[in-house]
Amino acid sequence: MTEAGLVARHSREFLASFGGRASPRIFFAPGRVNLMGAHLDYNGGPVMPTAIDRGTFVAVRPRMDARVVLASTLDGTRGEFDLGSLPESRAGRWTDYPVGVLREILLLAEAQGARGVGLDILFGGNLPVGAGLSSSASICVGTAFALDAVFGLGLSRLELVNAALRAERGFVGVQCGIMDPYAVGLAREGALLWLDCKDRTSEYLPLDHDRVTIGVADTGVRRELAQGAFNERVGQCRAAFEALRRHQPDATCLRDIRFETLAAHGDELEPPIARRAQHVIHEVARTFSARDALRRGDAHGFGAEMVRTHESLRELFEVSVPELDVLVASAVATPGVHGARLTGAGFGGCAVVLLERGAEAEVADRLMRDFERAFGRAPVVEFFGGDAGPREIEVV
Ligand code: GLA
Repeated sequence: MTEAGLVARHSREFLASFGGRASPRIFFAPGRVNLMGAHLDYNGGPVMPTAIDRGTFVAVRPRMDARVVLASTLDGTRGEFDLGSLPESRAGRWTDYPVGVLREILLLAEAQGARGVGLDILFGGNLPVGAGLSSSASICVGTAFALDAVFGLGLSRLELVNAALRAERGFVGVQCGIMDPYAVGLAREGALLWLDCKDRTSEYLPLDHDRVTIGVADTGVRRELAQGAFNERVGQCRAAFEALRRHQPDATCLRDIRFETLAAHGDELEPPIARRAQHVIHEVARTFSARDALRRGDAHGFGAEMVRTHESLRELFEVSVPELDVLVASAVATPGVHGARLTGAGFGGCAVVLLERGAEAEVADRLMRDFERAFGRAPVVEFFGGDAGPREIEVV
């Protein structure tokens, strides 16, 4: 369906859900795939994500009272809150994401002497939830953009991105790095974002969608415990850094630890902690080589680094699952594929494939066949274009 069609449908769904005649304003924020820099953001390393043309629609309409009513096309349950007495802690359900953002944006409004107004909000879209495509950052950043617009605050993109990040970390309670809200909020059409998570500097690198395409194959595996396992990896990386910095006092994060330091002192770490550190330190080097390859126009060289990343995520960081390994092996064996790896945190979700334009049909066939042979069911395989980032979309 075209963007205009999706927006018109979301507007109709809003009216069906909330009644009334006045059309809502509609905002969109994309999802993302991360091509290089796996599990580096919370270690201060560089990352290379790009937005995809799937995401979250946020339809918003002011109310006469000071209540905020949250509804979703994906989940029948609603959340209803008073602007003046928003929950202080998470409830463990989807409304935590927008409530966390609302709290942050209200604080920023207050600092300007501005106030919020009551709202009806409907969330929806075409991004699979929990698949590693950053549905949570897409919801949080989309909510931040929508609230900024309807409250008339004029906050900058970076302020909104950081509000989304604080909401997810502080209120929802995921120790996530900075990559996802930055990738979503700073997205630019036809570009990969190079983001250095140590000093938050960024640049855009061209991704030529006429020559290459991004495929995403969804294993359908969703791990309930993924958040806990993610936070555990964050803790293990912190433990590795605390131990290794004693031998390299100039290091400010795990990204700074040199190969020599790890080689000399890695055996002082518990074996799983040493494996996590090994992944991170080598992934930093791979991500720089991938950037060099992209600058040379060498998509295949870039893809080769993605494949090495996947191996490291499987063997050293231990966040892959057999379904992802089958998809990656199958993609890599198909002509026209430059590289493939798991995307997002891992533990299930999606594999991302970088391929030549024109190879889509063969890649989809091969992935479906190999996956079905191994697991007796078909994965969802889709091909995505880039996206221009968060915006308001006119309902025509
Ligand atoms: C998840 C997190 C990100 C990042 C990736 C792994 O998507 O939300 O911050 O850590 O995992 O690269």
